[in-house]
Amino acid sequence: MEKANNIVLIGFMGVGKGALAREMVRQDSSLYALDTDDMIESLTNTRIKKIFERAGEAAFRALEQKTADWLAQNVENAVVSTGGGFFKVNNLERIGTIVYLKADFDWIYKRILNAPNAKKKLKKRPLFQDVGKAEKLFEERFEAYEKVADIVLDVTETDTEEMAKRVLENVKVKNAGKS
Ligand code: S3P
Repeated sequence: MEKANNIVLIGFMGVGKGALAREMVRQDSSLYALDTDDMIESLTNTRIKKIFERAGEAAFRALEQKTADWLAQNVENAVVSTGGGFFKVNNLERIGTIVYLKADFDWIYKRILNAPNAKKKLKKRPLFQDVGKAEKLFEERFEAYEKVADIVLDVTETDTEEMAKRVLENVKVKNAGKS
């Protein structure tokens, strides 16, 4: 199967994947923003938290795989923000160019705590109910994120507007090189 031309944002919970996707589509109106958690919630008409409670994590991961397969086959010109574990799906690279939003755990945790509605946002995340466990999960994952990425972006250095510009430039250069 051929690779689609989307931009896929991966990285840990709370790193700012959704915010960056929204800024990218603001800067480039030919793109559309999609979020894999939102897609799964609308597909199942169930909140992520409830899916974890009722059906378990494995069922949620299967829904992520279904979403990945559907995106790869049906979607073009989108910026796809993903749940923190979505990078583990099979054939992620078929969806498009993979951009890893990199930050250390303390930076991410501070960002979450400083966000408006911090408590509500934390409550929605079943794998961020215990800080110690979340940090462990981060330690388990952080090298793997980098391995699957085409582009690594240190998000601790720049604001969202500048990051969006950089990713769009970077992807354009990469795509120009292909044709
Ligand atoms: C998860 C991250 C969440 C959501 C689910 C599982 C993970 O998305 O997909 O709770 O495994 O890291 P965010 O990264 O948007 O919080």
